[in-house]
Amino acid sequence: MTDSGRLGGRLVGRFVALGITGSIAAYKSVELLRRLQAEGAEVQVLVTPSATRFVAALTLEALSRRPVESDLLTLLPDGRIGHVVTADSADAIVVAPATAHWLGAMANGLAADVVTAVCLATSAPVVVAPAMDGEMYAHPATQANVARLRDAFGYTIIEPEAGPLASGQAGVGRLAELSQIVDAVVAVIGRRPIRAADETGRPPRLAAAVREADLDGRHIVVTAGGTREAIDPVRFIGNRSSGKMGVAIAQAALDRGARVSLIAGSVEVDLPSDAEVTRVESTAELGKALATMLQAGPDGRAGFDALIMAAAVADFRPRRPAKAKLHRGASLNLELEPTPDLLAEAVAVARDLSPMPILVGFATETGSLERAVVKLQRKGVDLLVANDVAEPGSGFGTNTNRVTLLAADAPAEAWPILTKRGVADRLLDRVAARLDARDAAAQTGPRHVPQESRS
Ligand SMILES: Cc1cc2nc3c(=O)[nH]c(=O)nc-3n(C[C@H](O)[C@H](O)[C@H](O)COP(=O)(O)O)c2cc1C
Repeated sequence: MTDSGRLGGRLVGRFVALGITGSIAAYKSVELLRRLQAEGAEVQVLVTPSATRFVAALTLEALSRRPVESDLLTLLPDGRIGHVVTADSADAIVVAPATAHWLGAMANGLAADVVTAVCLATSAPVVVAPAMDGEMYAHPATQANVARLRDAFGYTIIEPEAGPLASGQAGVGRLAELSQIVDAVVAVIGRRPIRAADETGRPPRLAAAVREADLDGRHIVVTAGGTREAIDPVRFIGNRSSGKMGVAIAQAALDRGARVSLIAGSVEVDLPSDAEVTRVESTAELGKALATMLQAGPDGRAGFDALIMAAAVADFRPRRPAKAKLHRGASLNLELEPTPDLLAEAVAVARDLSPMPILVGFATETGSLERAVVKLQRKGVDLLVANDVAEPGSGFGTNTNRVTLLAADAPAEAWPILTKRGVADRLLDRVAARLDARDAAAQTGPRHVPQESRS
């Protein structure tokens, strides 16, 4: 679990680039990094060559769990160009402290270091907090550079404060309070959409920070997207599901070493190339694909370890879809019939499989989640992910989701707003723990699933 996932705050789901330049105040950047993380941000640190003399990359990498970007002329391990990836994915860039030299380089567009290069290459908002000797800050050259950054570039300048300086003198040059800098980052991001919700669009994390392959050897079945119920050969009744949540789960499971079977209805995103994909259109087709999955193998054992039903399945369908296109008329009455309850059917079959798979359902509600609690009990799933799609930043088409995890044997957990990948990772933490507990119980006796540690 990342720090951002655990702590919550005003920057949850956000990716912030922190530029550090060669000022004595660079030691405060370490604390600024922690404060941004405490607000929920993932942070990518960028340093100028001088900054590396003031603060160690080891400290910054250990805390951010990402390689520090320091060398403009070195490619990322996967061949991408680091400063462009950061510029394109960051929700904001904050340069703190900013030296007199860096202000001059930036004001003139001199991209000789990573911090200036990222600022030049980005369309994200930029916050700059200068720090230096009072005379240096008062110099007309510095003042002109600051004015250019603010007025011509639209950067938010957090003015330095008066007070004792490292030089032993007093003056206006001390780095502003960190809380003021964090507030400015929150304010410039405002309600802008998240630019790169998925890790794949951001620079890579340290290899050690990548989740371990705790689903290696597991087979996870995921349903994703919406179903379509034919009215006639050209029209259908559908829903607003984009498939993003289910696809994020499939990708996260693949990244953790699982074999993934993905049953996909209508989706608006690319499907992971490593998944075994079955495309379906209607609820009936989805039901058939599930029935195939649910068949026990020749050895009588279940063919999968967990079933995660993230697809938005129609509750009703036209009773008699027309064989030919319906033509315009005064009115049209459609008679709808309920579709089979695929989740309940799957649970009924899966309960007889051995070993018993972990079953996860999704409940989409608008307003209260009380019905989801009833659904958990009625359907007999192990876990139910309930989300209120009426809430901003949650539900169909968004890159983020705020969900409540309900479990048959543990208290409900209301998670903060997270990227869909963040929700997927947390959910798979729970699934992996339950699978491990299932296997341990099979060795020692009757099934007992301990409550996982909260994270
Ligand atoms: C001990 C020490 C402290 C310094 N502190 C500052 C400072 O607070 N602000 C500043 O503008 N320059 C400061 N400098 C000078 C910068 O490190 C120098 O101008 C450097 O070239 C800045 O490079 P950069 O802007 O690429 O990081 C300091 C230098 C030393 C030796």
